[in-house]
Amino acid sequence: MRYVQFGRTGARVSEVAYGTDNLGNPHGADEETSRQILGTVLDAGINHIDTSDSYSDGNSENVIGKYLEGSGRRHEVFLTTKVRSRVGDGPNDVGASRYHILNGIDESLRRLRTDHVDLYLIHSFDSTTPVEETVRALDDVVRAGKARYVGCSNWAAWQLAHALWVSDVNNLARFECIQSEFNIVRPGLAVETIPLCILEKVAVTAYSPLGAGFLTGKHRPSGAESETKFGARDDARGGSLKRKYFDDYRFEVVEKLRSLAEESGQPMIRLALQWVRETPGVTSPIIGARRLDQIESTLEALSEDAPDDVMSRVREIAEEFARNTPVTYPPQVQAIPAVQAVST
Ligand SMILES: NC(=O)c1ccc[n+]([C@@H]2O[C@H](COP(=O)([O-])OP(=O)(O)OC[C@H]3O[C@@H](n4cnc5c(N)ncnc54)[C@H](OP(=O)(O)O)[C@@H]3O)[C@@H](O)[C@H]2O)c1
Repeated sequence: MRYVQFGRTGARVSEVAYGTDNLGNPHGADEETSRQILGTVLDAGINHIDTSDSYSDGNSENVIGKYLEGSGRRHEVFLTTKVRSRVGDGPNDVGASRYHILNGIDESLRRLRTDHVDLYLIHSFDSTTPVEETVRALDDVVRAGKARYVGCSNWAAWQLAHALWVSDVNNLARFECIQSEFNIVRPGLAVETIPLCILEKVAVTAYSPLGAGFLTGKHRPSGAESETKFGARDDARGGSLKRKYFDDYRFEVVEKLRSLAEESGQPMIRLALQWVRETPGVTSPIIGARRLDQIESTLEALSEDAPDDVMSRVREIAEEFARNTPVTYPPQVQAIPAVQAVST
């Protein structure tokens, strides 16, 4: 495993992170499978584990906490969690207020069975809380020793730039990382956010590097593979993933990658992950897996690099897609919510 500098900080993280929204979840990995996956991931040298207070209704944090405490491996891990999503019915069980952040960090530490996390992220933008309130609360979390670094997830470039300015002028802990969606067929992050992060030396961790499974090539235009996130019939997420990925442009990319993978003898997963990893400004992709065989085959794909001539063809496929496809920004970047966020 290779390790990379985490933004402008002195910390080093594995060149891929493992994301745990599948752990401790009836639709994902049960506790025993979660423990096996975590052990396999750490044995492979991945030291960055990503979770959130909202994954599996807090049970992802529970499962990770139990595993790290029981195995004595907490010290090996750069542990990230998040706050901001709704975690209860109360009026303050959501958002990026000082109230919710200071309660949220203590709840996460309790579930994770640790006295600190390494990175604490605001899961998405909160247009109803002043950014200065959020940044000051995070600074207090850092000063209390409960988080080493802080950052955001799913914020637009202008929102991140504003937060960096607020922390700079007030000498507060600044956002050292943004975590957002980024892959060959959802490349919108490269338009504004990644250039800003290169300029400001902010780490970029890319979630859904395999398009939540779409870029493994297992889904067909005629329908999603059942037993997957896309195929989950009762799951609102299955529908929203299909809306994000199921169109002619994106299936065409899958077919081109499939042909290239067959012709070159390279696993398709390797091509998709390497494209994300090699994009300048990206610190690490965050891979997900809900079964042991999935993490094993992904680790196998990561054990070697595809040669340059194959990767230059992957880049051509990605560039052609970006040229011919209207850019789909994350919802936070669409014009109307952005204007609302400024005016509230
Ligand atoms: N900040 C945010 O808002 C946010 C949002 C999303 C994700 N994340 C983080 O990023 C992590 C990864 O996101 P992601 O799950 O979308 O990443 P991904 O790596 O693009 O997709 C992972 C999914 O692809 C399928 N898969 C993985 N490996 C496979 C293999 N070898 N063969 C076949 N299928 C395979 C599995 O889904 P199926 O078995 O269901 O097909 C797996 O759950 C999450 O766990 C979370 O930590 C953050």
